[in-house]
Amino acid sequence: MLKAMKKTTTLLLDETTIQARIAVMSADLAREYRGHELAVIGILTGCFMFLADLIRCMHHDGILVRLDFMILGSYKSTESTGRVNLVKDSTLDVRGQPVLLVDDILDTGRTLQTASALLRDKGASRVTTCVLLDKPARRAVPFEAEYAGFAIENRFVVGYGLDYNGLYRELPYIATMD
Ligand code: IMP
Ligand code: MG
Repeated sequence: MLKAMKKTTTLLLDETTIQARIAVMSADLAREYRGHELAVIGILTGCFMFLADLIRCMHHDGILVRLDFMILGSYKSTESTGRVNLVKDSTLDVRGQPVLLVDDILDTGRTLQTASALLRDKGASRVTTCVLLDKPARRAVPFEAEYAGFAIENRFVVGYGLDYNGLYRELPYIATMD
């Protein structure tokens, strides 16, 4: 199993590099939100590991977090289908509140564009997006994240929450599929 995994993936970002970047992102967020309460909405499933590490840093940086999740889907295997459907909405009341929307990766931009529109429709005063990874070459709609950890090339990546057909989410690092 481990042998098979080594054959199919190549390390792109190691644990230390990821954690160091998250600490800097949290410090950047704290410049805006220290001492404030922030509604943080993660897009499942890919965000779970990044979000868990990010909000622990945010705690140390003095941000109060009200956490919730939404589930949106568009992927089959390694290809985006182009349609984004809402599988599970968040239940937080965001009316008049700033929201931090968190995802693992900004790819075509459709997921985050859809999610931020939904949150604005629910009355959020402002929707700020934060992603660990950004593939600018893949953008299909005009959308940028205010906070992005690493810009990467157009390669399919796995690990640290990101999957290939449900596998590899548990990897503590990010790797490319060969
Ligand atoms: P978008 O709507 O195309 O921006 O896609 C965003 C979603 O697609 C992310 O939340 C991921 O779940 C998934 N995704 C995009 N690129 C990759 C990748 O390289 N590996 C794994 N999942 C990906
Ligand atoms: Mg996702």
